[in-house]
Amino acid sequence: MEKIVSLCKRRGFIFQGSEIYGGLAGTYDWGHFGVALKNNIKQSWWKKFVDERKDIFGVDAAILMNSKVWEASGHVAGFSDPTEDGKQFNVMFKTEVGVGEEAAISYLRPETAQGMFVNFKNTVDAFHPKLPFGMAQIGKAFRNEIAPRDFIFRQREFEQMEIEYFVRSADWEKYFEYWKDEMEEWMEEVGIDMNKVHELEVEEKDRAHYSKRTIDFEFDYPFGRKELFGLAYRNDFDLKNHKLEYIDEEIGEKIIPHIIEPSVGLDRIVLAILLSSYVEDEKDGEVRSYLKFKPNIAPVICAVSPLLKNKPELVEYANTKVYAPLKAEFGRVAWDDNGNIGKRYRRQDEIGTPFCIVVDFDTLTDDTVTVRDRDTGEQERIKVADLKNYLKERI
Ligand code: GAP
Repeated sequence: MEKIVSLCKRRGFIFQGSEIYGGLAGTYDWGHFGVALKNNIKQSWWKKFVDERKDIFGVDAAILMNSKVWEASGHVAGFSDPTEDGKQFNVMFKTEVGVGEEAAISYLRPETAQGMFVNFKNTVDAFHPKLPFGMAQIGKAFRNEIAPRDFIFRQREFEQMEIEYFVRSADWEKYFEYWKDEMEEWMEEVGIDMNKVHELEVEEKDRAHYSKRTIDFEFDYPFGRKELFGLAYRNDFDLKNHKLEYIDEEIGEKIIPHIIEPSVGLDRIVLAILLSSYVEDEKDGEVRSYLKFKPNIAPVICAVSPLLKNKPELVEYANTKVYAPLKAEFGRVAWDDNGNIGKRYRRQDEIGTPFCIVVDFDTLTDDTVTVRDRDTGEQERIKVADLKNYLKERI
């Protein structure tokens, strides 16, 4: 863990929140490469579960909600953890909305799920979906955790990616299994080491107040086997409490759909990906560390370097004929001319950049460059004109 935490700071992924003022427990700030990594993970999730399907509808609800939402959801009464002296402590952050006497109590949402339930009717009215269908949301959630710990594993402000999938009550088991498979597939797509993932059937006494069945996908972190994310059968608890229903045209009756919920904590996914990707090996007699990110989620797809930064003809070629067109095509392209080539490779290895492209003196005569593979360290010469396709085939 220490190596990962220090790499994340050194290379601009994740910093302690409010660091120059001594920090604020349970908060982290994301640097340039951390934001890129998170965005790529979010995009992969949204693409698979929203863009590539016709039955799931996106939502981006307000973080502040009417406090009646949290009363109906059961969070005001029951979203508590025991303190050291055994008292129940509600972990929702309470705040005030409005001025003076007029101010109303509100809470920072502790899950994104309720933002979808309160828009259930709006979504049904706007899109007339047939069962089964779902809603999806990515956004911040807040919990005043009693003991935040283990880097980004348990924070007070974190990000969730949740799907609420509405089904007929008789179908819940079928769709529970279906979502288990979907989530396993997605974890592989983003490069989580599936040998470190284990399913835990959560016992009734340990389940959330709304759940009739929960599976925790656990991960082998360096600090133990702990929850990565959950898959819950929320039955009709939420829609019933919000007094929402659905006209099932197939049977001509009003029903309350049941809910299957894959609820992913993005920060824990980032941590699991970092831990699955971190490798140390030996290159040229030295220990090197690198992140073997899958190209689809790597913050940088390729770095472009002139062999020497004091040779204007190399810099000019690298900049105009290689970097600029690749940057325009892929966006996630870095310019790196700092230090010698060995240092640049080490730096890009730690960022997890799959390919390093170097413009050298041969380039000026034959329009080819070297492309170095992060994992094997092997280099091949590729025509500049073929670079875009070369990369497209590999990301
Ligand atoms: N809507 C259901 C729900 O919120 P949860 O199990 O309480 O269920 C879902 O939270 C996921 O959110 C967890 O599995 C975890 O990945 C993430 N999560 C929860 N609390 C967290 C925290 N304090 N810090 C980071 N991630 C957290």
